[in-house]
Amino acid sequence: MAAKDITARQATHVAIIMDGNGRWATSRGWPRLVGHRRGANRVRAIVRAAPGFGIRYLTIFAFSTENWKRSTEEVIGLMALFARYIRNEADKLDEAGVRVNFIGSRDRLDPNIQNLMAGIEQKTRTNDRLVLTIAINYGGRDEIVRAARRLASDVAGGKLQPGDVDEAALEARLDTADLPDPDLIIRTSGETRTSNFLLWQSAYAEYEFTETLWPDFTAEELGRIINRFGRRERRFGGVLSA
Ligand code: FPP
Repeated sequence: MAAKDITARQATHVAIIMDGNGRWATSRGWPRLVGHRRGANRVRAIVRAAPGFGIRYLTIFAFSTENWKRSTEEVIGLMALFARYIRNEADKLDEAGVRVNFIGSRDRLDPNIQNLMAGIEQKTRTNDRLVLTIAINYGGRDEIVRAARRLASDVAGGKLQPGDVDEAALEARLDTADLPDPDLIIRTSGETRTSNFLLWQSAYAEYEFTETLWPDFTAEELGRIINRFGRRERRFGGVLSA
């Protein structure tokens, strides 16, 4: 490939499917929650490192609409971990200029967690060094259905004509309305599925799959992936100019 064909790209919005916590723990004979706890430490490290790699938006998949099928003990343990993360990290994230927000459906979450989520969103709302979006009770199909419902309700209420329903109208009603589309989606633990994550938004995203289990994922590996991404071409369905 000629050098002139290589377009250096910055991964401005990176999204991560943090997979492999359970395997990391069970392979050591430990409860799955130990893996999630270790996973939460990796979240801290990756959030800290992200701005140094030019990342402005970091979106992480913490709990899917399907994760309710796990054991009650694991679901409760994960929710407690999210609550602790928000409580312990709020000041540090704020001082570091991180704006935190959440995507996903909140109705089914415990009111205490809902309050913590609203609190950290409010506290950090004017920060702009990094936008950290945490997906909790999130599913791409569920998000699109909820957006479609909002569209239907706006049409029924006369706020929108059926002919005005276009991509922009739907996008404006997604949970991610304020975010650019992800440039790069990383999935750890060797699985190569997209698992209902950012279905609409990933139309032109690059994917990177790594064998590393999330509790072992380091800032150095993130850096290597970002560098590789920078050297890849992205055509968005068109043709690069010579
Ligand atoms: C997938 O691993 C991971 C999850 C379902 C939970 C992700 C949660 C964390 C990383 C913990 C902390 C998050 C925050 C935001 C503080 P898995 O359990 O499916 O692993 P397995 O496929 O090996 O079983």
